[in-house]
Amino acid sequence: MSRLLVTGGAGFIGSNFVRYFLEQHPGGSVVNLDALTYAGNLENLAAVEEDPGYAFVKGSVCDRLLLEELFSEHRFDRVVNFAAESHVDRSILGPAVFVETNVKGTQTLLEVARQHGTERFVHISTDEVYGDLGPTGRFTEETPLAPNSPYSASKAAADLFCRSYFKTFGFPVIITRCSNNYGPFQFPEKLIPLMIHNALHDERLPVYGDGTNVRDWIHVLDHCRAIDVTLRNGRPGEAYNIGGNSERRNIEIVRQILRALDKPDDLIEFVTDRPGHDKRYAMDASKIKRELGWEPSYTFEDGLRQTIDWYRQNRGWVENCTSGDYLEYYRRNYGERGQDG
Ligand code: NAD
Ligand code: TYD
Repeated sequence: MSRLLVTGGAGFIGSNFVRYFLEQHPGGSVVNLDALTYAGNLENLAAVEEDPGYAFVKGSVCDRLLLEELFSEHRFDRVVNFAAESHVDRSILGPAVFVETNVKGTQTLLEVARQHGTERFVHISTDEVYGDLGPTGRFTEETPLAPNSPYSASKAAADLFCRSYFKTFGFPVIITRCSNNYGPFQFPEKLIPLMIHNALHDERLPVYGDGTNVRDWIHVLDHCRAIDVTLRNGRPGEAYNIGGNSERRNIEIVRQILRALDKPDDLIEFVTDRPGHDKRYAMDASKIKRELGWEPSYTFEDGLRQTIDWYRQNRGWVENCTSGDYLEYYRRNYGERGQDG
């Protein structure tokens, strides 16, 4: 029986993955190590709390002594590293913690896992490491890394450490690079949950710039399936792009959310653009399809509808996330952003 360490499993994608993994692999065992930053929420894991195969440990991937203890005790043969600071706007307000968690944390975890002979280490990265695309083309695994935000720079640095651990030590790391996720349990600082939350409260919907930036959206459960298949069958030393085949302009999505909630378009407010704002991301995910047989299953329209319903039905979860520190962050990020145009 394999023993899996998941880091950052109390966040959005990590918690969806832990639930998905335990559902798919009855009798499986997962230890979830999470520092419970503002983005970590144990409510996301209520469904697996009683599962005998699940255990939670509060702690940081930067804490080498704790990692040594955990690896000695559990002898993990597999690791999935989600732990990160994940929000571009926060990386602009304060980049240092991104270096700490995303770069030093990843290197510390790689080192301890390597010394304990872990057989497979899947590092969760992002399409943002490739930088900005023009109006055409898609990122492949060969696209050079050219990150533009402190967030994506820290993720690219972590990817390079992963690469170096494979090349130098033969440590079996696999990198997955996924496009923008959406779905249940996403903290309402990212585009889709923020816009749903604000629309439900009849608050302004702050669209950066002219709203024509494009992202390639993927439902979080499609991402989880891709990670699961990579964990089982991915080739060490390789990177795999994961994408949803759903390019959308931000403004289209915001309008779709307003229509679904029967709210007026005049809630939209175009605000000062994000500095260094990448115009377009799009993924060529043909390698993972070819090698591992994965492709996305959700259409964006179905996934968005389901996600909007989830946020409507889980207002308590959202209220818990948006009390306290959230208000302070919201004031800092949006308070001084003037109206655009
Ligand atoms: P999230 O912000 O929702 O969750 C991050 C989790 O990491 C939280 O539970 C937090 O408490 C935990 N964490 C932070 N610092 C830690 C530390 N030092 N030690 C242990 N745990 C720590 O992020 P997410 O959206 O679920 O993203 C998960 C991963 O996927 C990240 O690595 C991110 O870069 C990557 N990713 C995200 C997206 C996306 O669209 N959200 C897309 C591609 C890749
Ligand atoms: P986000 O969800 O922060 O993901 P990322 O920047 O990592 O792609 O943002 C998605 C897109 O939505 C991005 O082009 C920025 C834009 N955006 C807004 O227009 N307004 C907002 O309030 C937020 C959070 C994002």
